[in-house]
Amino acid sequence: MNRHPVILAGLILTLFAIAGSGLVAFTYWQTADRIAQNERDALLHQLHVLVPAESIDNDIISDTVTLQAPDLMGRPETLVYLGRKGGKSVAAVFTPVVPDGYSGPIKLLVAVKMNGTLGGVRVISHKETPGLGDQIEERKSDWILRFAGKSLNNPTLSHWKVKRDGGDFDQFTGATITPRSIVKAAKNTLLYFRDRGQALFERGKAPEKEKKPAADEHG
Ligand SMILES: Cc1cc2nc3c(=O)[nH]c(=O)nc-3n(C[C@H](O)[C@H](O)[C@H](O)COP(=O)(O)O)c2cc1C
Repeated sequence: MNRHPVILAGLILTLFAIAGSGLVAFTYWQTADRIAQNERDALLHQLHVLVPAESIDNDIISDTVTLQAPDLMGRPETLVYLGRKGGKSVAAVFTPVVPDGYSGPIKLLVAVKMNGTLGGVRVISHKETPGLGDQIEERKSDWILRFAGKSLNNPTLSHWKVKRDGGDFDQFTGATITPRSIVKAAKNTLLYFRDRGQALFERGKAPEKEKKPAADEHG
């Protein structure tokens, strides 16, 4: 006799639970989309700082290759963004991880132009000490900006070190380990690019351009 109100209450509770879960799922779905878009925009902004938007006409975020050079790049696989204009190679942006910073891995973006000069270096994330190693951040000092325009000839290979080690790059007062590790990572990226840079663009060729002749052949 008294069962109906209980069943009704149960039903209402179930409906609320379903509506609540649905709302949470919907909000998550909407937010995840927006977060992904924001991350993409932020990455594109960073890439365009190193490879100016007007210097390329491809979708640099999607035009990527993955390389395996753990000794030079600090991790088993490294993503590289390829900038092109009119089908010609313009610059490659490497994403090495510096393994030998003071407090853990330092993630970098290192842009190299086709003439072998650096478009620039930026720190994406690090755990270096505030006031010491964190001067590698663009907003803390201009140290990281000084890589732009450098190459394996400028300075010469043996000078790709901090001044303390006989090279051309400043260290920070009381903090040599962090800058030393970044200089080494930038040099290693240039070495990789010198030997295999052009091949990356061959490997990463836009798929439509590769497919078209094949379709014509069988066409
Ligand atoms: C608490 C603490 C934090 C430090 N953080 C850093 C750091 O983030 N980067 C760095 O290169 N050195 C850091 N150092 C200094 C290094 O231990 C090392 O002494 C220094 O890098 C060597 O450079 P120097 O020969 O110019 O003193 C730190 C030292 C201490 C005690």
